[in-house]
Amino acid sequence: MDFEKIKEYLRENLNDFRFNHTLRVVDMGLILCDKFNYKDKTKVILGCYLHDAGKNLSPSKLLDIALKEGYVLSEEERENIHIYHGVASITIARDYFNINDVEVLNSIKNHVTGCENMSMLDKIVFLADFFEVGRDYDRVHKSREAALNDLDINKSLLLALNSSLNELISTNRFIHENTLKARNYILREIKNS
Ligand SMILES: [Fe+2]
Ligand SMILES: [Fe+2]
Repeated sequence: MDFEKIKEYLRENLNDFRFNHTLRVVDMGLILCDKFNYKDKTKVILGCYLHDAGKNLSPSKLLDIALKEGYVLSEEERENIHIYHGVASITIARDYFNINDVEVLNSIKNHVTGCENMSMLDKIVFLADFFEVGRDYDRVHKSREAALNDLDINKSLLLALNSSLNELISTNRFIHENTLKARNYILREIKNS
């Protein structure tokens, strides 16, 4: 896989802020690979590079893509169409870079809200996005520490999802059901472990 080609696409299609964030997500994804002994670094690199590939598309373009991909959107999803930037990023991975690995594509989609039954790859891409080193807010520190110091990926994910839910509630924003499902799923995984 030609990572340079992907990088070039991202440099051209993302704003500077998003491009630099993406590079830091790749760096953090690789750190998490080492910490959690995840062998398939290529999948992590692809998921991290492409997770926000569609992030700077216009709302109308995101809606177009979601409909074309066969999604039936609720009113809330239409009003919060940015949630579909993961789906848009999948289409870029698939159509521009011929990436058809379902695990990689899922990790790209699932970084936005999380989901039930998150795979290890989903968790790594989600967390790399959540606490890459440019994200220097109080609410991400605990999640980063749990992953990097305690080596507890589920605890880290629970802290991340709780923090996202708290943030969405305190700012009166829409909560996608997948975020709740992800959070309850991780809670169950922790209880069963
Ligand atoms: Fe994103
Ligand atoms: Fe991101």
